[in-house]
Amino acid sequence: MDLILLGAPGAGKGTQGALLSEKLGTPKIATGDMLRDAVRAGTELGRQAKGYMDAGELVPDAVILGMVRERLAQPDAANGAIFDGYPRNAAQAASLDEMLAGIGRRIDAVVYLEVDDDDIVRRMGGRRTDPETGLVYHVEHNPPPAEIAPRCVIRPDDVEETVRNRLDVYRRSTAPLVEHYRQAGVPVHTVDGGRPIEAVQGEILGLLER
Ligand code: AP5
Repeated sequence: MDLILLGAPGAGKGTQGALLSEKLGTPKIATGDMLRDAVRAGTELGRQAKGYMDAGELVPDAVILGMVRERLAQPDAANGAIFDGYPRNAAQAASLDEMLAGIGRRIDAVVYLEVDDDDIVRRMGGRRTDPETGLVYHVEHNPPPAEIAPRCVIRPDDVEETVRNRLDVYRRSTAPLVEHYRQAGVPVHTVDGGRPIEAVQGEILGLLER
């Protein structure tokens, strides 16, 4: 199954994607995680991406396309993938459709996570990431285990001003993709992402099993 997790920054795409990936045995392709890995590794791609990411702007499509094409060619993605944070605009959606068609696949479903802006700002303020595993926690809703907590870090783009810009970019470029997929006849499941993590997960699994 090829599935897109769509939603604003902080809607819970990464959290739900990791749980779904484990449950379904399907790899998660998260362009944000891949870009952060490249920044940490100090690669040329990471150097190109960092300024855009720190400002909450989208990294140029050509950079993203090359990265996703390479990832999709890995053996573990031969039967499907969970796309998290990608595609993010109409051009990326068109290139993903084309890439999948080239290997005889198509997007089977979109899960659209809806969360209030104020909730999002609160979530970002409490988000902590384990740099060793990439796992995402929240100081209140999903605290890291005590032995891991000291090494957890705050993402540089989680400061409120950048979060607000990321929300604007999301509304302008990414939110219209809900309509793009509806019009293409792809099932779009709208899920209230404002509820506890387990409740959101249960609903997504139920919808995908139908
Ligand atoms: P990216 O990493 O994709 O960030 P994002 O889309 O802004 O989404 P986030 O990772 O912030 O949030 P999420 O929805 O995954 O939420 P999470 O599960 O972590 O992109 C970062 C940057 O990279 C972009 O700004 C851009 O510059 C660049 N980029 C990436 N992809 C790109 C692309 N395709 N094209 C161009 N540029 C690209 O949850 C958030 C917090 O809330 C966590 O602390 C979590 O524990 C908590 N939480 C989750 N669910 C719940 C819940 N149900 N209840 C309470 N707390 C919860």
